[in-house]
Amino acid sequence: MNTEAQEVEKKVLEKIKPSRSDEETLKSIANLVVNELDKFKQQTSIDMKISVEGSFAKGTWLKTDPELDVFIILPNNYNKEFIKNELYPKLRAWLNDYSPIEQYSEHPYLTLQIHGVKVDIVPSIESLPGAKILTAVDRTHLHTEYVKRKTDERLRDEIRLAKAFARGIGVYGAEIKIKGFSGYLLELLTIYYGGFRRLLEAAAYEWIPGKIYIDIERVSDPLQAKQAFGNPPMIVIDPTDPKRNVAAAVSIEKLSEFIMAACLYLSNPKEEFFFPKPLHPVEKKRLLGLAETFFENVVFVELRHKARLPPDTLWGELQRALSIMKNILEKNEFEVYRCDAWSDEKEQSILACLLSTPIKTKYRLIKGPPIKEREHSIRFIEKYLHSPFLGPWIVGDRLYAINVRKEVLATSLIEDHLREILVSDLTDSTAKVSLLSWRPEIIEDEEIGEWILSFLLGKPKWLWALLDYQKV
Ligand code: UTP
Ligand code: MN
Ligand code: MN
Repeated sequence: MNTEAQEVEKKVLEKIKPSRSDEETLKSIANLVVNELDKFKQQTSIDMKISVEGSFAKGTWLKTDPELDVFIILPNNYNKEFIKNELYPKLRAWLNDYSPIEQYSEHPYLTLQIHGVKVDIVPSIESLPGAKILTAVDRTHLHTEYVKRKTDERLRDEIRLAKAFARGIGVYGAEIKIKGFSGYLLELLTIYYGGFRRLLEAAAYEWIPGKIYIDIERVSDPLQAKQAFGNPPMIVIDPTDPKRNVAAAVSIEKLSEFIMAACLYLSNPKEEFFFPKPLHPVEKKRLLGLAETFFENVVFVELRHKARLPPDTLWGELQRALSIMKNILEKNEFEVYRCDAWSDEKEQSILACLLSTPIKTKYRLIKGPPIKEREHSIRFIEKYLHSPFLGPWIVGDRLYAINVRKEVLATSLIEDHLREILVSDLTDSTAKVSLLSWRPEIIEDEEIGEWILSFLLGKPKWLWALLDYQKV
């Protein structure tokens, strides 16, 4: 019994559980979309089923996060190429008035915004029992059935808490930007442990990344599965398909964050884990003032994109660019503390790295061998005898020299390597390299300001929950 946590969870549930009228609102939007797709079906005469799936169909959606998934299910004699080359372009044109956003991970689908609700329109192919699936989303209907069958109203509320917790601490979503826990994964975990708190307890006291193996219906063989999936941070077997690891997208960082946040929540249950406290503008200003000391240690690249990319593609390329940028800095002897990317997912993105210093100095002290290592010492003297080096000299029994090299600014280094850093679709984005201290005005933008603040303070969201602002 933990009454404090119960109290918090009750309050959270009041905020996230949809009311009857919320249900009605979403239902009417679903109907509107289904009608629109029915007309599409008539117009194209393609044989298809229209089906509402996802968390709305399962009764596990959050009022704070309304979203619909409407699936177009083609009969089994169609294939992926047909979806990509025939159905998808036609569908996009048909829905043009709703300004669909193209989503393209392994599989093309569209996202619409209708009355503030995100609606995913996902083409798929019917999956026959036992047969191989043709697209990544063909098991969706089976997922819906499974979750409905295994949950009652109580457990669905527990699932809602698990989703809201994951969202609050920033680990919700399997997309490339997050690499965290999908809705379906949290549903399975909550079902397996029988509730939200039990799930957190397992995470906090039992989970070890790389050693988590969960197979609710015992449909798979642990040894075989481990071999087939390689060595991911966690394995959760899909009860509707033993060949699939539902946790495949979970990165070791997001898993570790979930584990640590669970630990802290259990000993210190607070609503802020679910709903991070927005900073008071005065407080934000004060914190940014403190963060200003680091501004000249942040090298960043402002990107302007020519064309809008699907979010998964964009984030994949930003993360790749970030890791190349980090490598180049480190190869050139910069000490890189942290790197991160931000994007509006439309036309503007930023890559940033926090460095110990933005200039590689002209001089570097080289500690040589002790003279008892004669061979070494002679070679050291031969190497550093002539300019551009200073020394060598001896202090105690050891040789020293100073290496004189070209002074390098982190910004010029990055500028010289932009072609290497910006690859694939990023090649035709314009890029501007600066230190944050040269461009302090960019923090005036609310979203960018918030991102830079949390980047510089270096705390994940779930630690903000415990923050005593007076002491920051
Ligand atoms: P969603 O990402 O919308 O998840 O995918 P969800 O369960 O509805 O949860 P929230 O509340 O929106 O976050 C819809 C369904 O599509 C299937 C899953 O069955 C999921 O429940 N899906 C999605 C896949 O099978 N594979 C994928 O890669 C993505
Ligand atoms: Mn959904
Ligand atoms: Mn969706």
